[in-house]
Amino acid sequence: MSLESIVKQRYSVRKFKDKEVEKDKISQILELVRMAPSAVNLQPWHFMVIRDKELKDRIANTYNRDWLKKAPVIIVACGNHDESWKRRDGKDHCDIDLAIAVDHLTLAAAEQGLGTCWVCNFDSKECAQILELADNLEAIALIPLGYPLSDEIKETPRKAFDEIVSWR
Ligand SMILES: Cc1cc2nc3c(=O)[nH]c(=O)nc-3n(C[C@H](O)[C@H](O)[C@H](O)COP(=O)(O)O)c2cc1C
Repeated sequence: MSLESIVKQRYSVRKFKDKEVEKDKISQILELVRMAPSAVNLQPWHFMVIRDKELKDRIANTYNRDWLKKAPVIIVACGNHDESWKRRDGKDHCDIDLAIAVDHLTLAAAEQGLGTCWVCNFDSKECAQILELADNLEAIALIPLGYPLSDEIKETPRKAFDEIVSWR
């Protein structure tokens, strides 16, 4: 599949089939996540793959929407603030690095015919408590993973090219 077709195939999937995701596929996806670039190559990340039903329900409850509970897998993308690069002016690049890695994740999943959705509107502190994360680790995003219920790709509008690009 070309990069263009993978990018066009990815969309935020919020309805999943009641079907297990093969561990091999999850590993292949995370292998591509491992290749993501990061500031100073510090790779300040950790990915927790939650498949256990009881734990998954507890994590899903940190987000106030029922659809997340139906995802067969939730990947918790954690940033390590002890490892991330800080610029001279103090800017922590942890979020940027995590975003790149999670983008790899969503595209790699799309290539496998799997659906994902970024979820950031969750209670990160509660999630960290449930997972007993060390203080330096922040749960930055929840990424549900599963086979999309529908074959239809849901397109959402984008700003026009000229609105977001300027040439100088
Ligand atoms: C950083 C980030 C945080 C997001 N958080 C949420 C969220 O908490 N809940 C949700 O349903 N969607 C969330 N989304 C998904 C966006 O709403 C979605 O990507 C956007 O509307 C474009 O749609 P598409 O992904 O289908 O192309 C988030 C996306 C990003 C990139």
